[in-house]
Amino acid sequence: MRQKIVAGNWKMNNDKNQTEVLISGIKEEIKDLSLDNTRVIISPSFINLESAVKSTEGSSIEVVAQNMHQAKSGAYTGEVSADMLKSIGIKTVILGHSERRTYFGETDEILAEKVNAVLENDLETIFCFGELLEDRKSDNHFNVVESQLKNALFHLEAKDWASIVLAYEPVWAIGTGETASAEQAQEMHAFIRSIVADKYNAEVAEAVSILYGGSVKPANAEEIFSKPDVDGGLIGGAALKASDFSAIIKAI
Ligand code: G3P
Repeated sequence: MRQKIVAGNWKMNNDKNQTEVLISGIKEEIKDLSLDNTRVIISPSFINLESAVKSTEGSSIEVVAQNMHQAKSGAYTGEVSADMLKSIGIKTVILGHSERRTYFGETDEILAEKVNAVLENDLETIFCFGELLEDRKSDNHFNVVESQLKNALFHLEAKDWASIVLAYEPVWAIGTGETASAEQAQEMHAFIRSIVADKYNAEVAEAVSILYGGSVKPANAEEIFSKPDVDGGLIGGAALKASDFSAIIKAI
């Protein structure tokens, strides 16, 4: 049975104290929830990861990184390696977020290298992808999504997909309040699952969790999560408020 996942991508938000306050709030909000087969994930900034790992020990909250460099070590000022993340207890890394692609020039080829580094280090990735508004307006969104997946992931072997979580995030829905409809999300998720099945097999396709991201809020989460190929969400703004994030978790 596919795992349900609600993951909060905190982006560049929360200092040390704000991180501790938000974690405490989330723990309080979800302490009585039965989270069978549901993963609750938060992703603070690098500087707060170690304290967040410590603060969530023994809870049902997993802490993941928002990015990772593909090199083992070296002259990459400002970057963070897999070994550094593993040394503080991080087991999962978000990769390919549209903001990394747009602002930091991360191409499909670079992301393929980062995915390889994740697997070489026995880590898991939440791999983000999604079309621009102009792609959808020109009815090219399926081609764009297929290309992103093929270029960054389809070199992997079937066994590697046990370490892959997919996150479809239409860029036009990120931070805009313009959420994709539940039908749009289901249509794309079903397409994604079909191309994974065609490339590999039905077992791999059925096992991979596909998250939706892009203006998920307490008001729309239940409908989006009700769709058969939507296995949860990657949450931005709503993850920064414990009550909203827990309301979305309760909707899964
Ligand atoms: O990675 C999740 C993020 O891009 C979605 O942001 O604020 O639209 O929920 P938001």
